[in-house]
Amino acid sequence: MNLYVTKLRAIEDARLEEIIRSFEPPKQERIMRYVKYEDRLRGTVSYSMTRGVVFRELGIRPGDAIFSANDFGKPRLENCDGFHFNVSHSGEYVICLTDKSPVGADIQLMKPIKYIEIARRFFTKYETDFITDGDPAERINKFYMLWALKESYVKASGMGLSVPLNSFDFTVDMENETACLRDCEERPPRFKLISSFDGYALALCHMNLTEVNVRMVDQDSLYF
Ligand SMILES: CC(C)(COP(=O)(O)OP(=O)(O)OC[C@H]1O[C@@H](n2cnc3c(N)ncnc32)[C@H](O)[C@@H]1OP(=O)(O)O)[C@@H](O)C(=O)NCCC(=O)NCCS
Repeated sequence: MNLYVTKLRAIEDARLEEIIRSFEPPKQERIMRYVKYEDRLRGTVSYSMTRGVVFRELGIRPGDAIFSANDFGKPRLENCDGFHFNVSHSGEYVICLTDKSPVGADIQLMKPIKYIEIARRFFTKYETDFITDGDPAERINKFYMLWALKESYVKASGMGLSVPLNSFDFTVDMENETACLRDCEERPPRFKLISSFDGYALALCHMNLTEVNVRMVDQDSLYF
């Protein structure tokens, strides 16, 4: 399982547009619809990274790779059943996780928010109690870890936020950076957490018992 991580850098408007124009028309239109520069940049780097990862792992050149999406919007690569990937972006980072089975990845910038109110609304009581129990200084980390875990799970399933976030819950081991679903399925998915990455929470959901290879990618190496 490979985790690619890119830190965003600003790109001059004209160059950004040139890169976007190299994408397939539907993708160009989607990214150009973003009003904010930050969203266009994130969308551009996200798609460039996906194309770069597909080239690195499968040798398929950008332009030859055919992407589609399931009914809930999860992107997939056509004609490559044994290749799975998932992208996430937040703040200054874009990540892409790949494996032989379905995966879900989520990164969350841990900015100050009214997390208890959000937890009460979207998490289960078991999870809200987990956040409020123990050291108050740990609460916000626990909240963001759970948020990333939940998103990684619904993204691995491919169903996204059509799955209510309080319809399942997690037991989290913050010290060992692992978690499991409380109501385990027959073949439960596995989870990896990274709770202190430059002020971000990261969660990876995967099916196989494999190590994660983390690869930092320079943004400039993505355009070709
Ligand atoms: C997928 C979803 C959980 C993304 O969460 P987020 O925290 O806002 O965004 P992230 O940065 O973590 O992930 C965004 C990436 O997830 C991927 N993605 C989109 N839909 C996805 C899905 N259903 N499952 C998994 N991944 C998905 C895309 O690659 C997207 O990146 P891109 O826009 O650059 O291509 C959320 O937006 C969602 O549920 N969308 C689906 C909406 C839906 O169900 N629509 C159905 C209409 S009938």
